[in-house]
Amino acid sequence: MEVSKLVRENLAAMKPYVPGKPIEEVERELGISNVIKLASNENPLGPSAKAVEAMMRTAAKAHIYPDGNCYYLKDELAKQFGVSADYLMVGNGSDELLKLIAETFLKPGDEVVMAQPSFSEYIFATKLMDAKCIHVPLNNFTHDLTEMAAKITKRTKLLFVCNPNNPTGTVVTKAEVEQLLAKVPEHVMVIFDEAYYEYVQDGDYPETLEYVKDGAKNVIVLRTFSKIHALAGLRVGYGLAHPEVLGWINRTREPFNVNIMAQAAAVASLQDSGHVKASVELNERGKAQLYKGFEERGMKYVPTEANFMLAKVGVSSKELFPLLLKEGVIVRTGDIFGLDEYIRLTIGKEEENERFFNALDKALGQLTG
Ligand SMILES: Cc1ncc(COP(=O)(O)O)c(C=O)c1O
Repeated sequence: MEVSKLVRENLAAMKPYVPGKPIEEVERELGISNVIKLASNENPLGPSAKAVEAMMRTAAKAHIYPDGNCYYLKDELAKQFGVSADYLMVGNGSDELLKLIAETFLKPGDEVVMAQPSFSEYIFATKLMDAKCIHVPLNNFTHDLTEMAAKITKRTKLLFVCNPNNPTGTVVTKAEVEQLLAKVPEHVMVIFDEAYYEYVQDGDYPETLEYVKDGAKNVIVLRTFSKIHALAGLRVGYGLAHPEVLGWINRTREPFNVNIMAQAAAVASLQDSGHVKASVELNERGKAQLYKGFEERGMKYVPTEANFMLAKVGVSSKELFPLLLKEGVIVRTGDIFGLDEYIRLTIGKEEENERFFNALDKALGQLTG
């Protein structure tokens, strides 16, 4: 039997997602220990102690299905953002929400405008629905919202703004977003993916939630507990939008998409503002350390508003990668973003950043010396 003849044709154009290499895999393959992963933009502080305690409390209740409506989590988010709970949706990571949005709005042939390079899940969700990606190159590593607006046609359904952008860490400003929204026609849904918004220091960063609060029906704001809240392993993300929009998206959702531990830990983490503050401070210190290290080596980098950064290492990142791996440091190579001489690096703790530079110096010595 030829299985390929049975599957939907559009799947042939898709490749399975290749995640950052897990620590255990590297340790197993290379027979080394003490590996550090600076590849997936995780929070090096780990989760809030309050979130861990909430997980423990919930563990013994694992035989009971979770609350499919995420009542307590929505309630806490609603309080924090000053919206009512019907403006909220919760997903198994914001990855799931991206997929649900695509399933809700896209049919074959529809167009989706997105920046390039940006977060790969926009491509995945679009292709999954047999819709068409309209890629708009970044301008100076930043979304070109003018050009993105110019690419809207009658067939456009969705437009993604990744802010800060993964993999560059750059942001678009409030003024740029205002101009974009003024141009977007009614048949286009604009999705602001703000997975890293808590890290942003730029005073011109837009408060996109205000559009939702003002009643806009063509704006969805996506956020996550995977980054600053350090709960990536639990898989929980959330979105804010007009209740009418969420009512449609909710039809595509599995009944129990967010597990009980994730719900309890997310509530506890939201209540621990000290952990969020400590994470931002650690990130700012780490950022300064990395900037300095790259400058000392005469390497260019893209100033970042997130917990990761793009740096130009001046050699093929694909060749550099295994050498860094041998030193126990996992990074993301730039070739997957079309930037072969760059690496994307998660901002780590001081000692992790130091280990990265030591590994980098040694690897570059081997490559160029
Ligand atoms: C821009 C962006 N959006 C969404 C996600 C997915 O986050 P989650 O873990 O909530 O699925 C990521 C993860 O790396 C991301 O970088």
